[in-house]
Amino acid sequence: MRIKYTVSVFFVVTLVVIEKENNIISRVSNRLSPKQPPGFSHVLLRHNGSSPSLSKTDSAHVLETRLETYGEHLAMRRRGRKHILLLATTRTGSSFVGEFFNQHGGNMFYLFEPLWHVEKMLTLETGGTNATVAGKAYRDVLRQLFLCDFSQLESFIEPLPVDHVTPALFRRASSVSLCEESVCSPVVRGVFEPFRCRTRRCGPVNLTMASESCLKKRHRAIKTVRARQLETLRPLAEDPRLDVRFIQLVRDPRAVLASRMVAFEARYKNWKQWATGADVPIDDVEVTKLKGNCDSIRMSAELGLRQPAWLRRRYMLVRYEDVARFPMGKAAEMYRFAGIPFTPQVKSWILSNTRAPTQTGGPYSTQKNSSEQVEKWRFSLPFRVVQLVQRVCGPMLKLFGYKSVRSEAMLADKSISLIEDKVFNAS
Ligand SMILES: *[C@@H]1O[C@H](CO)[C@@H](O)[C@H](O)[C@H]1NC(C)=O
Ligand SMILES: *[C@@H]1O[C@H](CO)[C@@H](O)[C@H](O)[C@H]1NC(C)=O
Ligand SMILES: *[C@@H]1O[C@H](CO)[C@@H](O)[C@H](O)[C@H]1NC(C)=O
Ligand SMILES: *[C@@H]1O[C@H](CO)[C@@H](O)[C@H](O)[C@H]1NC(C)=O
Repeated sequence: MRIKYTVSVFFVVTLVVIEKENNIISRVSNRLSPKQPPGFSHVLLRHNGSSPSLSKTDSAHVLETRLETYGEHLAMRRRGRKHILLLATTRTGSSFVGEFFNQHGGNMFYLFEPLWHVEKMLTLETGGTNATVAGKAYRDVLRQLFLCDFSQLESFIEPLPVDHVTPALFRRASSVSLCEESVCSPVVRGVFEPFRCRTRRCGPVNLTMASESCLKKRHRAIKTVRARQLETLRPLAEDPRLDVRFIQLVRDPRAVLASRMVAFEARYKNWKQWATGADVPIDDVEVTKLKGNCDSIRMSAELGLRQPAWLRRRYMLVRYEDVARFPMGKAAEMYRFAGIPFTPQVKSWILSNTRAPTQTGGPYSTQKNSSEQVEKWRFSLPFRVVQLVQRVCGPMLKLFGYKSVRSEAMLADKSISLIEDKVFNAS
């Protein structure tokens, strides 16, 4: 008991030093003050001790569990628990890259777009969200999820989960972790589940079970296309309970637009007419949105590549085009960056889901073929639209090494690749 107590005090002091504002810690340290050992008073006395709602035994219990939880988090951090946040935007291949972590096999808790619920709830009548409000909510929910706590996410799920059980968790089946035996509750007759597990028959997801399973996993990964601004996530990087690695996935905005014009045909009807020379006004809102997206992606990347102290060794920039051409190499690189061993399960998933060069195959020809796939957009996006994107997103193209084209002939010239070889994250 005595040893445990000493260890706990050590945790408290460490945490108070690391994270001065954490009020949970303040409350915890208070519980210690009546019997504090000499020498810690300067740390502990800063905190207000009154908390009349808790009895002596309750508070001792609260103290103990809190400290155990925090102690565990810190111990786990030392033992190498990693929290990976895959940051992307739509149509950048983020589901595919997310699979690199989803397929880890056994010791990874992976969540696919949990922030979908948050964005949906915070969407205003104008169709967008207030970036400040949404940014804060995304950050807080992500932090809790990395700690295996679903309570804040639950408050954004519609309809509200009952006893932490919901049939409505967005794309549940896209997360291997949420369809494992340990998170699989019995099927409930008559309950419609839009995202039912495919690997086994499970009932609505019980988030208490999900949380318990999450706590047992060594690493945690979340993929999102919703959290955009890296600087809003700084508190995650600085949270002593977490060891976060940010992987930002980007893609040539010309290719993204080409893909969007196919996926959201109706929205881009005017663009298509305009692209072929018709004298119709194109949607300014879409142009503004395009510029906003390019700028925010670029600014996050600039921040990450600058490597301020809080991001040091925590940020990696990945281009979709490199993943598509060298999936195995890039996946291995991401794992190296994350500090997690690359597993055979991931390797074999990549082999069976890509045309990745194998040891025996001709890597050169495969690479050339993949390059063609990656640059397919050049033959579907009209030059006029390409010019528009280049004008609006110029600085982003330059930063990521996407070559601008000067003429229609250059756009169509297959012998010129528009993807420059570029090495980011030299550290
Ligand atoms: C301490 O807590 C009490 C009760 O919660 C409150 O009235 C008081 O203002 C607090 N004092 C400080 C210094 O925060
Ligand atoms: C977003 O919300 C904050 C806080 O409610 C408010 O101060 C701000 O004006 C809002 N911003 C916009 C663009 O509506
Ligand atoms: C959800 O799982 C927890 C933990 O296994 C269990 O105690 C609880 O009864 C479950 N909830 C429901 C509604 O089945
Ligand atoms: C690229 O490879 C795929 C599958 O191996 C093949 O079907 C396709 O024809 C190839 N494309 C070119 C341009 O060689």
